[in-house]
Amino acid sequence: MATIDIHSDLVLGIESSCDETAAAVVADGFRVLSSVVASQAAKHAVYGGVVPELAAREHLKNIEPVVSAALDNAGVALEDISGIRVTNGPGLMPALQVGVNFAKGMALANRLPLVGVNHFLAHVKAAFLAPADADSAPPKPAFPLLALVVSGGHTSLALFDAEGKCEIIGTTIDDAAGEALDKAAKLLGLGYPGGPVIERVAREGNPAAFAFPRSLTGGTGRPLDPANRFNFSFSGLKTALLRHVEKNSGENREIEGAFLADTVASYQEAVVDVLTMKAMDAAAEFAAKTVVLCGGVACNAPLRERVARACDSAGTAFLVPEKRYCADNAAMVAAAGTAAFDCAEDADFSDLDVYARIPHGEPLRCPL
Ligand code: KG4
Ligand code: ZN
Repeated sequence: MATIDIHSDLVLGIESSCDETAAAVVADGFRVLSSVVASQAAKHAVYGGVVPELAAREHLKNIEPVVSAALDNAGVALEDISGIRVTNGPGLMPALQVGVNFAKGMALANRLPLVGVNHFLAHVKAAFLAPADADSAPPKPAFPLLALVVSGGHTSLALFDAEGKCEIIGTTIDDAAGEALDKAAKLLGLGYPGGPVIERVAREGNPAAFAFPRSLTGGTGRPLDPANRFNFSFSGLKTALLRHVEKNSGENREIEGAFLADTVASYQEAVVDVLTMKAMDAAAEFAAKTVVLCGGVACNAPLRERVARACDSAGTAFLVPEKRYCADNAAMVAAAGTAAFDCAEDADFSDLDVYARIPHGEPLRCPL
């Protein structure tokens, strides 16, 4: 159990945007006293992806025990908490609703301030989390800071300034990188979620065995539309995999052994290649002094190594969260948000609503 300074600012974070029910207690905006995650991956595996209504039902079951465990593991009582932060979007609406409603009830009953957190921005904040016994603040990064946020729902490049203003300079025009890995794993009969199993199988294969497409990189000989310079596209890659499997398998569309490993390694290589290439191109274009790699796909070791190496060559600082804070968690949610709780204790948060997508043109802010 962590020893805490009772005067520190203790925030309870709650997360339920997808298939993880999570709660955490974070002190002073960066020291993680507890982080509890209940994954529903096994429940959704039979469907090969997340079923929103099923996710909501599981969140309902898990949320109370997960929040209690987060407080217990931190060794704090609700009275010690100075406020609650909850993910209210983007994500699956029925799933988000469970966390937000629970947080509202808790805040009302305990007269605590409540703030809604943008899940996308929280993923970036994960790079600044530290252990409970860390005694100094995390180093202030050099700005501009470029974040590559890669998860099951997002693949975006976001530029942050010193005030926390965030501008999305590129995003996927179809599938997210995690989705491309999940769909490939489903097609190959490897299970769900796809990222971890793809990484494991890829270790046995040759990443240069097959040349899968690197969409929107100008590699086809056709000039790249400047509007897509920092955008991503993974649907062509997925189709190329399907054609590759059809061409090289029998009736049952199954591939196996070394051929499967080479296929998976080459597919992962295409994803890692495009992500690294685009991130470093954007870092150069916007003179980024720091690059952050985050989101569930940032668990991927080859991707972590590749971006780290590229930043090293470019002389750019590189930050990546610990693997457990790359995937969905509530510590990043507790740490995110604007300043401290600038609303009064009795602030009206009854209109705090959930949203599925980042509203177009909405200003984004998250001081890092
Ligand atoms: O951030 P996250 O937990 O949830 C979303 O907000 O989407 O990301 C989940 C995604 C899934 O697509 C999963 O396959 C991927 O992260 N992922 C990985 C790895 N672990 C999880 N992708 C590549 N390599 C991994 N080791
Ligand atoms: Zn996420």
